[in-house]
Amino acid sequence: MVFTCETGVTETLTADPRLSGRALRRVAFDEETIAGRVAELGQEITEAYPDGDLLVLGLLKGSFIFLSDLVRNIRRPLQVDFLVASSYGDATISSGTVRLLYDPETMLEGKHILLVEDIVDSGRTLNRLMRLLEERSPRSLEICALLHKRIAIELEHDTRFIGFDAPHEFLVGYGLDHAENFRHLPYIASLQ
Ligand code: IMP
Ligand code: MG
Repeated sequence: MVFTCETGVTETLTADPRLSGRALRRVAFDEETIAGRVAELGQEITEAYPDGDLLVLGLLKGSFIFLSDLVRNIRRPLQVDFLVASSYGDATISSGTVRLLYDPETMLEGKHILLVEDIVDSGRTLNRLMRLLEERSPRSLEICALLHKRIAIELEHDTRFIGFDAPHEFLVGYGLDHAENFRHLPYIASLQ
């Protein structure tokens, strides 16, 4: 099945059996567009870290697909670890509360840390996490986000690597969920 990426065009997509009948509004980024941009990001990141130990730290669960594609496009030695922070329940509006559910065991001190996030919305999750990670004395600390809504007025750190500017819609797919559903869609779409 091929969906075309027509930003701004409203379509109703119900044919995908992965959706259990739920209608999508439109596909914002199709598989090919995502793959192309992730390859570019991998190259940008490779060039940005000419030396030192690099730890790619994925924020679960939303980053799991993006991270797995991204690291395969980074052509230098690296390590991977994960942490879990939760700021959303089943709601589609950020609650602002961040709970850390898992702390990476990997030593962060003296390493380049690249925090990988699916989407930056209010920026509250990142603010909380960055403060915590800075306390571990990394050599550098940067953020790579697949999507950025660019509405995060409270964001204390620049997002060094950004995949796409996100439309102001609730997005699912390629790791992003709504109530834990739709993470497995290979494209990124907005819900009807
Ligand atoms: P923030 O703390 O408001 O920046 O929230 C960031 C987190 O909220 C992301 O890591 C996502 O898990 C979730 N989130 C924000 N916007 C969306 C969206 O459009 N679709 C799915 N999840 C989202
Ligand atoms: Mg989520």
